[in-house]
Amino acid sequence: MFRIALVTAALLAGAAQAQDLEALKLDTRKNALPVLPKVVAMMQETVAAKGPVEAIPVCKVQAPLLLKEQADKTGWQMRRVSLKTRNAERGTPDVWEARQLADFNIRAANGEKVESLETGEVVSENGKPVFRYIRAIPVGDVCLKCHGPVDKVDAGLKRQLAASYPHDQAFGYEKGQIRGALTVKRPL
Ligand code: HEC
Repeated sequence: MFRIALVTAALLAGAAQAQDLEALKLDTRKNALPVLPKVVAMMQETVAAKGPVEAIPVCKVQAPLLLKEQADKTGWQMRRVSLKTRNAERGTPDVWEARQLADFNIRAANGEKVESLETGEVVSENGKPVFRYIRAIPVGDVCLKCHGPVDKVDAGLKRQLAASYPHDQAFGYEKGQIRGALTVKRPL
């Protein structure tokens, strides 16, 4: 009897934790994900109106700014990371993020849809619980202008990018691949 009660309690605790995790994911999605389509739309509009060179600031300034605005609003940390960065200073993943990105590549290879790849996990940092969330950023048509195969990138644009990013690894992508991820860290 006692053993059954214990098992039931453990099961209930597990179920409650799973429920908490779902609620955390839901709330994080709601507050962080709208930035992604905003950047895509801004990129499409700017490339169409002014050309790709003039659109560089969308990825360099506007995207980080929109994330910062959301971060300030929520008190959570938010940034973009990639396994092949253009700006390593800003976009190099930490160990947890690198592991999730590698996992995303495996999941995508196994047929999961890139647009909905995500992980949410409660981890311990310096003895305190932190909720970490990461969501894949897929390569769309407009992204190829600056992240596509290097021989297909406009020469003038390539010069501009090379001047700012001597260690650029963010070429060579195809549509539908994982460009990187949006990552969120929130203290609990
Ligand atoms: C006009 C050129 C241009 C286009 C088009 C473009 N990007 Fe970028 N992208 C950049 C530049 C420049 C950086 C480096 C930004 C910085 O300095 O932090 C960058 C960085 C990134 C990063 C951060 C990681 C890294 O590599 O440093 C992600 C993620 C990213 N881009 C995704 C996208 C996606 C998704 C699209 C399509 C919606 C896209 N980009 C379209 C120029 C572009």
